[in-house]
Amino acid sequence: MKIICSENYVELSQFASDEIVSAIIENPSLILCMASGHTPVLTCELLVKKLRERNVDYSSVYFLGLDEWVGLPPANEGSCHYFFRTKLFEPLQWNPSQYFLFDAMADDLQNECKKMDDLIAVKGGIDLMLVGIGINGHIGFNEPGTSFNSLSHVAILDSTTTSVGKKYFDDGRVPDKGISIGLGHLLNAKRVLLMANAEKKAGVIKKTVEGEMKESFPASIMQMHKNGFILIDKEAASLLNKTY
Ligand code: F6R
Repeated sequence: MKIICSENYVELSQFASDEIVSAIIENPSLILCMASGHTPVLTCELLVKKLRERNVDYSSVYFLGLDEWVGLPPANEGSCHYFFRTKLFEPLQWNPSQYFLFDAMADDLQNECKKMDDLIAVKGGIDLMLVGIGINGHIGFNEPGTSFNSLSHVAILDSTTTSVGKKYFDDGRVPDKGISIGLGHLLNAKRVLLMANAEKKAGVIKKTVEGEMKESFPASIMQMHKNGFILIDKEAASLLNKTY
């Protein structure tokens, strides 16, 4: 696990977007998996801008959505679906053959999990993952207590997740379940970037980097990843023992 500390959110997002652009240039058939949420907003905007400006061929990239709120229609502005459609798929003119997102409205959610797991296997694994971190240490909807070997699964959301999650929904109504790619897939991904900014993430970043590795704190799995990077800004790094 390597720590890379940027001055601020803009610099952090520049760094993350540059990493993705370079990965696509190096491997035009990149299997890219990303989280939504507030952290990667600017990364997505910069990614679109840089791919266009640098004339990068991204037509063979395959995209996997990390997770989704169960029961939310894709048109709901709080959904991960909506996030990726408006921030990436439409601006990059990707068609559905280039991505797979969980259908969180499906009657058979186990089948959605199977579809994702099978797809990851068929594609030969995830090349690059960009994930965020929740205030309870979750990655995707891998809530505290999730097995480090888990595959795609449906999760009952932790009270912290549903409480913090209100920020995504105008009516404050937050689903109580999520569907997520599992931590086993993260461990097997060729490269993982965990991104966090602001003082509110300083405590969880300290636990991720310096705390005990345990399933009750999912992000601590990053300590185990051979090619894992913690991308943070100065504020998120503020409680770490070492200066980066
Ligand atoms: C969202 C996701 C979540 C978020 C995490 C941090 O797709 O996977 O795990 O990454 O909750 O959210 P923000 O970035 O809003 O602080």
